[in-house]
Amino acid sequence: MVHEIIIGRRSDDLKKYGSTATGYIGKNLIGKGEDTYLANKVMLDLLRPHVILIAGKRGSGKSYSGGIIMEEIASLPDEFRNNLTSVIIDTMGIYWSMKTPNEDQIVLLDQWKMKPKAFEDRTKVFVPFSQKKEFLDADIPVDFGISIPPYEFSPEEWSLAFQLPSTNPIALGLQKIVNQLHEKNERFSIDDLISKVKDDRTLDTHVKSALDNMLSVADKWGVFGEEGVKIDEVMKPGRVNVFDVSRLREAEAWSVRNLLVALISRKIYEQRVMARKQEELAKMGTIQLKERFPMVWLFMDEAHNFCPSDAMTVSSGPILTIVKQGREPGISFVPMTQMPNKIHQDIVSQADMVISHRLTSKHDLDALHGVMQTYLMEDIWKSIDSLPKSRGTAIILDDNSERIYSVQLRPRLSWHAGEAAIAANV
Ligand SMILES: Nc1ncnc2c1ncn2[C@@H]1O[C@H](COP(=O)(O)OP(=O)(O)O)[C@@H](O)[C@H]1O
Ligand SMILES: [Mg+2]
Repeated sequence: MVHEIIIGRRSDDLKKYGSTATGYIGKNLIGKGEDTYLANKVMLDLLRPHVILIAGKRGSGKSYSGGIIMEEIASLPDEFRNNLTSVIIDTMGIYWSMKTPNEDQIVLLDQWKMKPKAFEDRTKVFVPFSQKKEFLDADIPVDFGISIPPYEFSPEEWSLAFQLPSTNPIALGLQKIVNQLHEKNERFSIDDLISKVKDDRTLDTHVKSALDNMLSVADKWGVFGEEGVKIDEVMKPGRVNVFDVSRLREAEAWSVRNLLVALISRKIYEQRVMARKQEELAKMGTIQLKERFPMVWLFMDEAHNFCPSDAMTVSSGPILTIVKQGREPGISFVPMTQMPNKIHQDIVSQADMVISHRLTSKHDLDALHGVMQTYLMEDIWKSIDSLPKSRGTAIILDDNSERIYSVQLRPRLSWHAGEAAIAANV
């Protein structure tokens, strides 16, 4: 009998649950280079929270692999699926296509004895409120508009959002103004911030005009306000929640994305900490559990931009909280990056699994080694080097079993919109 390989599962869970609540992500590759064949199924534990780093050079299959895990979570039996929800920070604007079946790779799916499947009702697309029309005009199916309430951020976070060193006089002025509004417990807007700056008599003229200018520009980003849905109220169980942040103008794109990611990450963490307490109380018999905020799998494409190794951004703090303290409240984190050495080292060291497609730079390989010091660098290097060149092949480092597997990731059931453009008619 051919046994499945189950990665990421604790041995006590394995005894109790066998292979239930796992996701089928691919097959074990045996042999080297082009002389390989596909063997046992590789199943991923979806019972417990994990930190899974997905790495690989451009076009090697990172975003595709992230989508496979989302599909598996959304396909679990209801008793598990209804306790989970996926959130994807979509920097490329590609995951809305999970609403469509993968007719594009029908031959490949057939070889794997699989059928295309759409996750139409289960995929919800969120875009910045002011861009909703633009998306709909481009025929991209959007479900919700969201915005960023300025009062959600602390004075220090505002300085980080504008990339101001905290001792800079403009940063100090900004922090003072934000502080004053927070002290009044106000739900303030960018306009309120601007008038507060104008009215302040203690600020230096050049600080005043710099702040006025900065805030006016930020107002034009079209993301601040209270319009649209409250993100934590619409993350329902069993869904794939796509936050499409791809269509932002280059100049401000990363500031806005970082603010949004900071907000989403923090909301998820706060909601899950609350939900976890209620779950404990229900277990003790003190309360009856009503609808609760599901456990979250947070996926993040191009994650090195949100939590880089060499600088602090406004999203660094909330992400690191999830990475370090997310397991207890039940938050999984799946960063994807083509530059594992550019991503914050705490993410790498907290990862309990790595899915690494082909990597070419030595620095990036060395960074992966940071995950599992028990492996010999040479083994990791050899395993990656002997992968066939085809797309969707990867090595998987599993900290639970302390093993390295070579894997061919399975084809996607739903459409993957990430294919590079070609100069031919589609
Ligand atoms: N497991 C796979 N099976 C089949 N094709 C794949 C697989 N993984 C990736 N591909 C192909 O490779 C292309 C690039 O993958 P993608 O995940 O978008 O790359 P990146 O690493 O840049 O995120 C996809 O559009 C798809 O055609
Ligand atoms: Mg990608």
